[in-house]
Amino acid sequence: MEGAVPVIAIDGPSGSGKGTVGRFLARRLGWHFLDSGLLYRLVGLAALRRGIPLDDEERLGALARSLEAAFREGPDGELQVLLEGEDVTEALRGEGCAAAASRVAALPPVRQALLERQRAFRRPPGLVADGRDMGTVVFPDAPLKVFLTASREARARRRYNQLKGKDAGVNLAAILEELAERDARDSARSISPLRPAPDAVTVDTTALTVDEAVARILALWRERAGKDGGSFGKGGSS
Ligand code: DC
Repeated sequence: MEGAVPVIAIDGPSGSGKGTVGRFLARRLGWHFLDSGLLYRLVGLAALRRGIPLDDEERLGALARSLEAAFREGPDGELQVLLEGEDVTEALRGEGCAAAASRVAALPPVRQALLERQRAFRRPPGLVADGRDMGTVVFPDAPLKVFLTASREARARRRYNQLKGKDAGVNLAAILEELAERDARDSARSISPLRPAPDAVTVDTTALTVDEAVARILALWRERAGKDGGSFGKGGSS
């Protein structure tokens, strides 16, 4: 039964470390990992390529429903994303794609179309799901919900450090501004806004390393799974 497969939902703003922490956590537990932002980025990229205006709800909803996307592991173990057979992993990381994703993510038909695609990632022995509404909308029955935060400055600096090796023109002030805009848009939208689920545990990563953040969530999971007598499935034993 789907309900028996445990989910750890990790939500939070851009740059809070969700992706890295979630991936490491999934690896430690031997669980599947869903980076739900990638699905919104895919719709954003496909829309830009097809010249669909980013506020055309009807066409974007149809695009999200029919999107031919696949995920596979590359030779170095990294996730690769294919859109209509083409490897678009690098393109998806760009800031243009992030901004387009944030726009299309505000449209109800797009969110609705991606709901079932996201839930399909819930497979034994468990799923770590990262995004903005994993705990509130997509997996409301997740036995552990974490809201990962960090100061906006810390988040901008992380993004800057990620990009500076690839792009010499990268600018910290511009990243900070773009992050503030995206935070505002993701939090203010009327559908599935970014906010902690009432039963989420907030973890502030401003002063934590990735390993420390993973250890904290693992400890929360063990506590939760222990209280339930281990019925959430195996995992968390390593
Ligand atoms: O996590 P990310 O930066 O890759 O996400 C890209 C955009 O997609 C982000 O601005 C908000 C949106 N998003 C969302 O609305 N809901 C999710 N579950 C994941 C991402």
